[in-house]
Amino acid sequence: MALQEPDEHSRQLLQSQAHIWNHIFSYINSMTLKCAIQLQIPDIINRHGAPMLLSELVEALPINKEKSPFVYRLMRILVHNGFFIKQSVSGTGAEGYSLAPACRLLLNDEPLTMRPFLLAFSDPMLMDPWQHLSSWFQNEDITPFQTAHGRIIWDFALQEPMLNKFLNEAMASDARLVADILLRQCSGIFKGLETIVDVGGGTGTLAKSIAEAFPNIDCICFDLPHVVKGLDGSKNLSYVGGDMFEAIPKADAVLLKWILHDWNDEECAQILKRCKEAISSKDNKGKLIIIDMVVMNEEPGNKTLETQLRCDMTMMTLATGRERNEKDWAKLFSNVRFSDYKITPILGFRSVIEVYP
Ligand SMILES: C[S@@+](CC[C@H](N)C(=O)[O-])C[C@H]1O[C@@H](n2cnc3c(N)ncnc32)[C@H](O)[C@@H]1O
Repeated sequence: MALQEPDEHSRQLLQSQAHIWNHIFSYINSMTLKCAIQLQIPDIINRHGAPMLLSELVEALPINKEKSPFVYRLMRILVHNGFFIKQSVSGTGAEGYSLAPACRLLLNDEPLTMRPFLLAFSDPMLMDPWQHLSSWFQNEDITPFQTAHGRIIWDFALQEPMLNKFLNEAMASDARLVADILLRQCSGIFKGLETIVDVGGGTGTLAKSIAEAFPNIDCICFDLPHVVKGLDGSKNLSYVGGDMFEAIPKADAVLLKWILHDWNDEECAQILKRCKEAISSKDNKGKLIIIDMVVMNEEPGNKTLETQLRCDMTMMTLATGRERNEKDWAKLFSNVRFSDYKITPILGFRSVIEVYP
């Protein structure tokens, strides 16, 4: 029997089904990547130093060898998703696996590794809140995180050392990558400064990089007391514990990397007021340096926008924050009477925003 071409109605039905299935199963992308990291697949292939045959990979993996037949299927989706490349292995006529460029950022000993970020955000503690998104819309809780765990994220991190460790390591890994680009591409923003305070600076990765690159700038890493407890500074780096909603140490410039997106507009206004009080007015060099997203104009299908929208939902689910477009940022700044701002979109899906008192 000759096959009939699907009619327009059937074609649309099947297209819609495929679209929905793609979204139903999109968590598999992060879960398979997490599995590859936990099994150390990128490190094993990297150490091999040449495209690695499936049989060699299976042999080297720390797995129950009865599971060997399944490795091919894990690798097939990771190749499809752009983390590994299949290349011919010289002298064998067979193909082996090597690392695609993005995979290098998942290596254990890569200085800019993003492994801690992946492991934190795919941990059940940060994934569970997503199961509560719709009930949160109907209940009184502040965030889906609170619906899942009974407390807001910052209180939970204070009482749960594992979450505190995950969050701090994830942030530190991101800060290393951002510091690398910032100091190579945008170091002019620090010109003329004598003091800088990194508010919500975590364990001080960014402040440390600035202190090393600019020995004449005195840097303070300011964060909640349990985050900076026991951390040692250096000649031009010190750690101060406190609450940014109450008071911020004084400095020429206040740095806020990935802070304001954690908070709603009212909370941001309070933080910005404390920042304004902290910024020195000496020689007019005081400023606020924000590293955060400026959400682009909506263009469906755009990858950067997709990442930004996912981050926006993450902020809604884990904290009280949001990702903002330029208009939102301008409103925040003018509400607290900052005079002007300049956006430099130098950090991929994030930007540097300099704000002047
Ligand atoms: C998303 S992390 C960003 C860390 C760091 N700036 C970075 O980007 O790598 C938010 C930081 O804000 C800190 N934080 C939360 N509430 C705070 C408060 N009330 N005062 C000071 N820091 C706070 C957290 O402990 C955490 O280190």
